[in-house]
Amino acid sequence: MNGAAGGVGHFALQIAKWKGAHVTAVASGRHEEFLRDLGADAFIDYTKVAPEDVVQDVDLVVDAIGGPTSARFLRSMKRGGALFPIFGLGAAGGDEAHERGVTMSTTQIRASRAQLEDIRPVLNDATIRVAIDSCFPLSDASMVHKRAAEGHIQGKIVLTVDEQPGYRA
Ligand SMILES: NC(=O)c1ccc[n+]([C@@H]2O[C@H](COP(=O)([O-])OP(=O)(O)OC[C@H]3O[C@@H](n4cnc5c(N)ncnc54)[C@H](OP(=O)(O)O)[C@@H]3O)[C@@H](O)[C@H]2O)c1
Repeated sequence: MNGAAGGVGHFALQIAKWKGAHVTAVASGRHEEFLRDLGADAFIDYTKVAPEDVVQDVDLVVDAIGGPTSARFLRSMKRGGALFPIFGLGAAGGDEAHERGVTMSTTQIRASRAQLEDIRPVLNDATIRVAIDSCFPLSDASMVHKRAAEGHIQGKIVLTVDEQPGYRA
């Protein structure tokens, strides 16, 4: 799971664990304790080592960074595996994926009541937890962009209605 600490990644990691996968989380070192607490079996600090150089024979890479850089993971994958850039725009490597027998695909989220109903029990019993990076009132929505631009997000940024700001640095 690349980009494992962010809004998408911390859910993808937990869903993979819930489904029984062995998960390697890739993020900057500040997130290691957080990601191990969410269930990561292994951790790679991408600021110290390129994950595609040290991971081999994986079945699935979910890449929350994605785009043009996703194809570097093809060499880390098993034949028959799947590479899933969350941000698909600019994704390259289709020919190499074909040669290596790797399925490369992406999608755009659509809210699904049925899927939310499926996942409700594991949210209620905290099998899957929602991490909150920071919280802003709707009237201060521009702060969300400021926080996002700072990077290193851990979990979700929340907008609240009729609440005071509770920014957690
Ligand atoms: N397809 C869809 O429907 C869909 C839906 C939602 C989001 N997205 C896209 O998915 C992407 C991720 O969204 P998000 O909400 O998870 O973003 P986010 O909350 O900003 O998280 C990004 C995470 O990546 C880490 N990161 C940054 N550079 C990295 C690198 N080189 N290698 C590994 N980790 C790195 C950041 O922290 P550290 O640098 O400290 O590790 C951060 O935790 C965005 O491009 C978004 O547009 C697509």
